[in-house]
Amino acid sequence: MELSRSLYSEAMSARYDADFDAIFGGPDRGDLELFTRLAVEADGPVCEVGAGTGRVLLPVAAATTAAPVVGVEPSDAMREALSARVAAADPRVAARIAVRDGTFTALPLPDGSQALVYSAFRSFQHVLEVSSQLQALRECRRVLRVGGTLAIDLFDPDYRLLHDTEPELITRYRRGDGAVVERWDARRVDRVRQHVDVLFRWQARRGRQILEDVESSYAIRYTFPHELAHLLARAGFEDARIYGDYDLSPVTAAPRELIVIATRTS
Ligand SMILES: C[S@@+](CC[C@H](N)C(=O)[O-])C[C@H]1O[C@@H](n2cnc3c(N)ncnc32)[C@H](O)[C@@H]1O
Repeated sequence: MELSRSLYSEAMSARYDADFDAIFGGPDRGDLELFTRLAVEADGPVCEVGAGTGRVLLPVAAATTAAPVVGVEPSDAMREALSARVAAADPRVAARIAVRDGTFTALPLPDGSQALVYSAFRSFQHVLEVSSQLQALRECRRVLRVGGTLAIDLFDPDYRLLHDTEPELITRYRRGDGAVVERWDARRVDRVRQHVDVLFRWQARRGRQILEDVESSYAIRYTFPHELAHLLARAGFEDARIYGDYDLSPVTAAPRELIVIATRTS
């Protein structure tokens, strides 16, 4: 049930990269430098959990000599897109990448095997229950070697935005075939469970003709900074640090990102 609410559909996978580029002006939302640097410093096997279409995984593999670089991804549609991207990459980079089916709570990796486990662009927020979050963090710790690093990003919840919304236009862009795509999102917020259900709708038009009208949805859980610190400590990451952005600046009154950097110390 939990996974089915967060699994990315084919509709989502087919539009993920184009939407991302239109919203952020390209494949980098300011996070590539951090994850690449951590992978260089890790100097050993690297795993991205919730690797999606490989937006971060491929640049990380290309910028390092890390081997293997494992992308764990539970959605069949996203994993297929990732595998296609790996197949089209420089063969010397592709040879070091492994794509695996798995989730945060069941990582297909041996104990103590990873120098870096990271998760980019909020994949961890698809873990929807507190018990599963704890299980997920313990699972990351299990696969890290002693001295290895965990790096996760979440959004820093802004309580002023945590309410139900009517569909809002998120992005409009022109596709390769000339059609204009609009994406509209609506949110339903469950304040008790700290869940947000996001309903996506894409309309593709050429002139007045509607070519596509497609819907999909997923759920995320938002987590507050001190709650996250408690979860990390319970999972055995006693030294975890939480930053406010990819430049590792402090959390401030203006909510941005929550970047967790933690070490497996024993
Ligand atoms: C916002 S995308 C991020 C993809 C990629 N990391 C990036 O930065 O572009 C979130 C990804 O998390 C995956 N996901 C959903 N539930 C998950 C879970 N329980 N464990 C691991 N990944 C999950 C989704 O299928 C999706 O590919």
